[in-house]
Amino acid sequence: MSACTDARTLFAHELGGSPDGVWCAPGRVNLIGEHVDYADGLCLPMALEHCTAVAVRRRADGILRLRSAGFPGTDITVTDIVSHAVPGWAAYVAGVVWAVGPAGFGGADIAVASDVPVGAGLSSSAALECAVALALAELFGRATDDTGRAALASACMRAENDFVGVPTGGMDQQISLRGRAGHAMLLDCRTGTVRHVPFDPAADGLALLVVDTAAPHRLVDGQYAQRRRAVEDAARQLGVDSLRDTDSVAALRDTILSRRARHVVTEIGRVRAAVSALDAGDVRALGPLLDASHRSLRDDFEVSSVELDSAVDAARDAGALGARMVGGGFGGSALALCEAAAVEKISHAVRVAAGRRGLPQPRFWKVAPAAGARRCARP
Ligand code: GLA
Repeated sequence: MSACTDARTLFAHELGGSPDGVWCAPGRVNLIGEHVDYADGLCLPMALEHCTAVAVRRRADGILRLRSAGFPGTDITVTDIVSHAVPGWAAYVAGVVWAVGPAGFGGADIAVASDVPVGAGLSSSAALECAVALALAELFGRATDDTGRAALASACMRAENDFVGVPTGGMDQQISLRGRAGHAMLLDCRTGTVRHVPFDPAADGLALLVVDTAAPHRLVDGQYAQRRRAVEDAARQLGVDSLRDTDSVAALRDTILSRRARHVVTEIGRVRAAVSALDAGDVRALGPLLDASHRSLRDDFEVSSVELDSAVDAARDAGALGARMVGGGFGGSALALCEAAAVEKISHAVRVAAGRRGLPQPRFWKVAPAAGARRCARP
C-alpha cells in the first residue's frame, strides 16, 4: 500500500471520518554537492519514490491532533506552539505550522504515514515538513507554483533551523517540493534558482543503488553544526561572504579549517562537472566524480564512517562505476552508480564486506528520479 493510502486509513482509524485531502512529499538522494548548501553552493539532488503522506482536516477549535503509524500521537493547542517545546517527530509538524501557518490558523487533524526509511539519511524529516507545508498551502489558498514552492521550502528550513533546532542548509526541502520525475535538480543555493537536468540512468543500461548502512545517522549530535561553523569561519577568514565566492583556500593557516574549506570548493567544482557530463549525455562520467566526492567527504570533511567506507569500497571493488556517502554523513546511506547487470553482484559484495567487519546488514534500493510533493489522487 502506498503512503497516501496508509495516511487515509490511519486518519479514519485514529481521527475518524475523512480528511479534506491527502498530500505527499518525497525523500531525496543527492547525486553530488554534499555539505555545500549552507555555503551558497550548488547541489544536484533527485527526489525518490519513497514518500511521506499526510491526511489533513482543518479544525476551528485551536487544537492540532497529530497521529502517526509507529510513533506516539500528540495533541497540541495551537497557541502553545513555541519553538523547542514540542517533543519528537511532532516538532517537525508543529514547526511547519509555526513557519507557514496562516494568521488565525485554527488547528487541524493530521495523520502521517511514510515509506521513507527513518535514520537512513534520505530526508524523512524534510519529507514530513514538505508534505505538511504543501497541505497547508493548498488548504489555505497559498501559491504552490514553483515560486510558491521555493518559498515553502525556505519556510520548512526555518522550521527545522529555528523551531526544531537543527542547522541544516535547505537542499532537502527544495528538492522535496520542487523535484521532477526523470530529472536531477541543479540547485543554486545562493539564488534559490533551479534547473531540471534530464537524468535517466536506465536508458544507458545503468542503475543507481542506494545502500542504507543501517548505522543510524543523526544530525542533532553536534557534528553537523560544527562542520557548518567551520565553513562559516573559513569564509570569514578568507574575507568572503561564503565559500562560493572563492576558488582558493591557500590563505587559510589552520589546517583543519583549510581541509574543510577545500572540500566545499572542490565539491562545487564537481557539481559543475557532473552537470556538464549529464548535459553531454555522458552518465558514466559521473562515476569518477562520485569517487572523488567520497574521498573529499572522508578525508577533508571527515563526515564518513566505517560503515559508509565499507559500503563504498566494496561497491567499487565489485565493479561500481563510482560510489559515495550521501547526506549529512556519520552513518546513513551511500549511493553507487552501477551497470544494471551488476547490481546483484555489487549488493552481495557490500553485504559480505559488512558481515566480515561485524557491521549491521545493509538494505538496498534501486532508485530513479521521481516527482516532487503533490496532492495524492483520491482512491
Ligand atoms: C543534510 C542537511 C542538508 C545538507 C546535507 C549535506 O541532509 O539537511 O541541508 O547540508 O546534510 O549535503
